[in-house]
Amino acid sequence: CGIIGILGSHEVSPQLVDALRRLEYRGYDSAGVATVDASGRLDRRRAVGKLVNLSDRLVHDPLPGHIGIGHTRWATHGAATEVNAHPHQSGPVAVVHNGIIENFRDLREELSALGIQPQSQTDTETVALLTAHYMDQGLPPVEAARKTLARLRGAFALAFLFDGEGDLMVAARKGSPLAIGHGDGEMFLGSDAVALAPFTDRITYLEDGDHAILTRAGVQVFDAEGNQTHRPEARIDSGATAIDKGGYRHFMAKEIAEQPVVIGDVLNHYVKGDRIVLPDGLDFRDVDRINLVGCGTAHLAGHVAKYWFEQLAGLPCDIDVASEFRYREPPLSPGSWFIAVSQSGETADTLAALHYAKDHVARTVGLVNVGTSAIARDSDVALPTLAGIEVSVASSKAFTCQLTVLAILALKAAHDRGRIDDAALGRHLADLRSIPALMQQVLNLSDDCRALSEWLSQARDVLFLGRGALYPVALEGALKLKELSYIHAEGYASGELKHGPIALIDRDVPVIVLAPHDALFEKTVSNMQEVMARHGPILLVSDEAGLASASHGVQASLRMPSGGGVFQPILYAIPMQYLAYHTAVAKGTDVDQPRNLAKSVTVE
Ligand code: G6P
Repeated sequence: CGIIGILGSHEVSPQLVDALRRLEYRGYDSAGVATVDASGRLDRRRAVGKLVNLSDRLVHDPLPGHIGIGHTRWATHGAATEVNAHPHQSGPVAVVHNGIIENFRDLREELSALGIQPQSQTDTETVALLTAHYMDQGLPPVEAARKTLARLRGAFALAFLFDGEGDLMVAARKGSPLAIGHGDGEMFLGSDAVALAPFTDRITYLEDGDHAILTRAGVQVFDAEGNQTHRPEARIDSGATAIDKGGYRHFMAKEIAEQPVVIGDVLNHYVKGDRIVLPDGLDFRDVDRINLVGCGTAHLAGHVAKYWFEQLAGLPCDIDVASEFRYREPPLSPGSWFIAVSQSGETADTLAALHYAKDHVARTVGLVNVGTSAIARDSDVALPTLAGIEVSVASSKAFTCQLTVLAILALKAAHDRGRIDDAALGRHLADLRSIPALMQQVLNLSDDCRALSEWLSQARDVLFLGRGALYPVALEGALKLKELSYIHAEGYASGELKHGPIALIDRDVPVIVLAPHDALFEKTVSNMQEVMARHGPILLVSDEAGLASASHGVQASLRMPSGGGVFQPILYAIPMQYLAYHTAVAKGTDVDQPRNLAKSVTVE
């Protein structure tokens, strides 16, 4: 979910909606705003669905006021209805919230015993009800909010607005990020710097447990113990928060096309000549194991890297989804390193997994795209993935940048541990350096993928097969297709096909086979033959040599370049992205904001 707050000098409703538009990638089930007008009256407007419904509502039913809060929701407790949309108001208090109030059922019961009944199914409304109750008992707004905060368990970012208070906002952060923006006689609040970019480049990040009192004159921050404290102000590079489709129809199309450039940026940042340059202390000589953890696409980047760490560096490597890792209490070797992979650096499960690992391993590394994020700050070492802002909810360039940084780490590990000498390192680095130019060629497959999308968009189920490091790329292909086109898709290790999924094969189930002409090629082709023998239509994604030897009888093929060495999986990610993208366009789904998904999931 996204939060915005403005203590401004003009009508704030349009500004709030504008800022919410920049935050819409965090959730778009419903949205709402609340303001206090010149007479001190607190009021709100909410609407189900995308933000445009809220702005339409405001056209017909304007909401005056120079101070306000806004929210765009990704439903957790309660369906996406107007009643469940934020802001939640109870008498003189309106509240917007990210995260989950874990003890809200207990608090609801307590309020119910006092005769106070909620109108919604949300955990958030409890916060408004409790604060209003304390105000009813005579506490002033700030004290009522503080007393409420002390009662809350869970992870949250909150903003409070009060009736009769045209120059006061209270904000609190525990678990979910929140940033304060400093203006000239104006103050702002946002769940990230992206929302605040049009208003100011002077940002203060609240720390966990902080609460803040904002007026137009400035902000007072208090730590978890309630002591007033100072949090530094940072300047945000406005280029880093620019959001613009650059002539493309969708952000996703733009972000796919940006990959050769951003991968080049990653290589320039981490590789100088024939040397890999990483922060001091990132020496893999004494590491005995790597644990790679992430969610969604970031997890799959880790899965690809497992092959590189094991094959190139001889370093055992476990991968896990963060939501399992954090609760499984895995025994971790004290000599191991933990690597969290996350585009946003905010994903609640990945952050919790990092916190678990911190007490058990020699070093924690955060691979993040957002340098100011919680995972960046809480890791021993943060390595930026340098993809630039990624707006489309389904990840594309962030994934291939994660892969590139992981490839560099695996090479560093291989070299540090004496598994490859300088000459071999140089050859592998040359392969990596060839990726941006090869990628530029792969981008030309967009038209072929568009042509194939006619066929794929008719399918009910699609299978993706790969072996070795192409297996997780097959998983990513299936994930992308599901996310964007809502077609059921599964990725399988080719060799596993005969142990179950082969039962699904018939003429109507397209099977997409990722098979570069490498050491595993013949094995994968055998599995492909098993599909063809059962009349399964094949899309073979391979290079010239692979297509020359095995494309007989396939329904369709995509011709990939053959370079890139062991880092070919980075290239094979691109047709996966384009197939999903064009199929979604053919089906008419919402490409940049697929239903039910959010880009940054700050709840577990
Ligand atoms: C959400 C997004 C995915 C993303 C995952 C992990 O589910 O929709 O695209 O891969 O979160 O996000 P992170 O920011 O940690 O990479």
